[in-house]
Parts: sequence; structure tokens; C-alpha cells
Amino acid sequence: MQMKLPFLKSKKDSPSQDNELITIPEHVAIIMDGNGRWAKKRGLPRVAGHKEGMDVVKRTVDTAVKYNIKILTLFAFSSENWKRPKPEVEYLLKLPKEFLHTYLPDLIKNNVRIETIGDFDSLPEHTKEAVQYAKDKTKDNNGLLLNFALNYGSRNEIIRAIKLISKDIDDSKLSLDQLDESLISKYLYTQGLTDPDLLIRTSGEQRLSNFLLWQLAYTEFWFTDVLWPDFNEKIFVEALLDYQRRSRRYGGI
Ligand code: FPP
Repeated sequence: MQMKLPFLKSKKDSPSQDNELITIPEHVAIIMDGNGRWAKKRGLPRVAGHKEGMDVVKRTVDTAVKYNIKILTLFAFSSENWKRPKPEVEYLLKLPKEFLHTYLPDLIKNNVRIETIGDFDSLPEHTKEAVQYAKDKTKDNNGLLLNFALNYGSRNEIIRAIKLISKDIDDSKLSLDQLDESLISKYLYTQGLTDPDLLIRTSGEQRLSNFLLWQLAYTEFWFTDVLWPDFNEKIFVEALLDYQRRSRRYGGI
């Protein structure tokens, strides 16, 4: 059971044995929305918003590390984003490489582990290469897990899980009566991860956009009108404080 205690200011401010007692969400997921509108407001091309958004990703990771969040899942490219104009798609798929080129040394220094969820194999070679390099380089780190949803769509993820389960049943590795919630979770991209405690969506939109439909069943949602490139530590902390005021009952009383 989670306890309500004063807000954890930073790792340094609190003895490590206290960390578990304070309701800092273990897993935060973010739908980083509003890059295009941010750019448009400034008379800039949409990709300028994505570039700014990339730097905000790094600052958000730093905040997550500071507040001792264990998993940060970021919706970086959805399986529906392929519908955007080709130059924007190409730009978005170059961003992981640019992000890692700029920030990987610092992420390594901060003990961050990088992982992805989504259809990795269908990404362009240059994206896969850069991200795989970062995954390999950080695989033994045990600090924050920075989990990029890349070419991710939740309905596809569920269909994929159903196919994998059916195949294992066909191959007699599994029987139908073993099927339960925890088994299904094991066949999702997020296998082994706790479900998000807190979902943040920026830019004023209040929808899930095919993000983590199974995993968000009991997640607390927090929406802000702030556009992703304007997201910062102060707003992140507002979300964390609001989370700490929630009462999570999981269907109980
Ligand atoms: C939604 O804003 C945002 C995206 C589709 C891309 C999110 C990507 C980043 C924030 C940068 C990713 C960085 C790394 C490190 C991979 P939108 O373009 O839909 O904005 P709009 O709704 O205002 O048009």
C-alpha cells in the first residue's frame, strides 16, 4: 500500500531508505503532444517543434532521475505517425539518432538504461542502428529505464500478443486455461515492466491515441494545456504532486 508523505524533493534530500515510502510514481508514461502547434505559433516549420521537443526529452529524463522515478515511457513515434508527410516522418525517425548522438554520454553517466517498445524491425536501418547501439551500451545500467515507444501502436501490440499466444498453444507450449492477465502481460512489448502509475499528456488533448491500452487500465491520468516543447520540471512536479493527492483503489473501496 502506498503512503501519503511529504513530497520527495530530490534523491539527495532524503535518505534512500525513505524513498519507497513516498508516493513517487514508479512508472511514468508521457504522450508528448503539441510540437507542431508550438512551431506554428512561432511561424516555424513543424520540425522545429520536434527538435525543441527532443531537448525537452533530455530535460524530462533529468527530472525523472532527480525524483527517483524508475521507468519513463515516452511516446516518440506511433504506428499511425507514418501517415504524416514524408519529410516529417523522416525527420521524426532521425531524431532518436540525433538525441543519442547529443546525449548518450550524459545518459550513461546518469546510469540510465535505454529500451524501446513497438515494431522495432520495421524502423529504418539508421534509426535501428543508433537505438540498438544505445540499448547495448546501457544494458547493464540500473538507474532510470528510459523506454521509447517507437513505431508503437497498442492495438497492434495486442494483435501481436494474440498471435504469439495462439502459436504457443498450437506448439503445445501453452494451454488455454493458463490464459490470465499476467500471461497476456508477458506477451506484450512491456513484458516485465510494471504498468504505468501516471500518464501525462501535454497540449490539451484528452485521449489515449492508441497508447498502452492494456497497461493503462488503473493508471492515473494527468492532462495539461502546455505544449510539449514548453514542458519543464515545474510542470512535471505539478503532475507528481497531483498524483500524490490521488487515492488509488483499483476497484476496491
Ligand atoms: C506530437 O506532436 C509529437 C510527436 C508525434 C513526436 C514526439 C517526438 C518528440 C517530442 C521528440 C522525440 C525525441 C526523441 C528523443 C525520439 P504533434 O506533432 O502531433 O503536435 P501537434 O498536435 O501540435 O501538431
